[in-house]
Amino acid sequence: MRLCEHRGAAPGEPVARIRVTPVTATDSPRTPTANSARALRDAMMDQLLTDGKITSPRVEHAFRTVPRHEFVPAGTALEAAYDAYQAVVTKTGEQGAAISSVSAPFIQARMIEQAELRPGMSVLEVGSGGCNAALLAEMVGPKGRVVTIDIDPEVTDRASILLDATGYGGRVTVTLADAEQGAPEFAPFDAVIVTAGAWDIPPAWREQLADDGRLVVPLRMNGITRVIAFRREADHLVSTSAEVAGFVAMQGAGARHEPAVSLTDVQGRRVELCFDEGGTGEPAPAGRRPGDRARCGVVRRHDRPRRLVR
Ligand SMILES: C[S@@+](CC[C@H](N)C(=O)[O-])C[C@H]1O[C@@H](n2cnc3c(N)ncnc32)[C@H](O)[C@@H]1O
Repeated sequence: MRLCEHRGAAPGEPVARIRVTPVTATDSPRTPTANSARALRDAMMDQLLTDGKITSPRVEHAFRTVPRHEFVPAGTALEAAYDAYQAVVTKTGEQGAAISSVSAPFIQARMIEQAELRPGMSVLEVGSGGCNAALLAEMVGPKGRVVTIDIDPEVTDRASILLDATGYGGRVTVTLADAEQGAPEFAPFDAVIVTAGAWDIPPAWREQLADDGRLVVPLRMNGITRVIAFRREADHLVSTSAEVAGFVAMQGAGARHEPAVSLTDVQGRRVELCFDEGGTGEPAPAGRRPGDRARCGVVRRHDRPRRLVR
């Protein structure tokens, strides 16, 4: 059991709560003061380097090159676009939960470091937005290949428009499909980088990896998402590193339902009581007010570490 402050805004990945604007050609790059964007990008880079999120010169070069602010929705403050620890939501679902975003720079950087990309490699990105695919294109260079796949046609349309407008269109192939089956027509890949929270690893992701290839995937386990890097060794995967972060949930065949109960805390803020898979989340009666108490059916043992309430 854990408490989290907003559903869909994954724990550990703070988000800018910006409603998506319809995806149209008007969402293409604007021309904010180039100097402001550059100054903010430099400040973000200082932070990512100081915090050890970027450790290799080629990743640093990619982040200094890609104009991140061109991939966020119109109206997003430059400061939000270049916040090292903030994702920018690009689309919300019916309940208001984030279902697509430009991931936070720190976790984009960690995942690219984890993937150990080199020039000439072929990479599959699961979950499109444009920005991360542009970073991947910088990493693999003109002789490499980047395929990005998304289940949502609005997302793939938007990514295609923005990649074209920023000059990466010819270097990234944007594909519309449920990534559960991978992208067999472009396999094998030297790396598969998954940018939505998964509960499991579909066989296709391993099968479409070249031997010694890297799979980097956010996996939800016991209520926490860890981005785990695996190296393929013949018919199995060997983990090589892990980072804690949060992501929007996987949709399609790999989606899972996590029981959650909406509550209001004593200060009137909405909190969600989330149950790990297999938990006993019985719905709370409607209309609960601050100060009300309800049994949640969960008994916490006092000899366990207190890591559940964030
Ligand atoms: C965090 S966003 C991607 C961010 C992007 N990589 C970037 O540039 O920062 C996650 C994306 O995963 C997509 N997604 C979720 N489930 C998927 C699935 N089964 N197959 C393909 N894409 C999926 C969502 O539509 C969403 O656009």
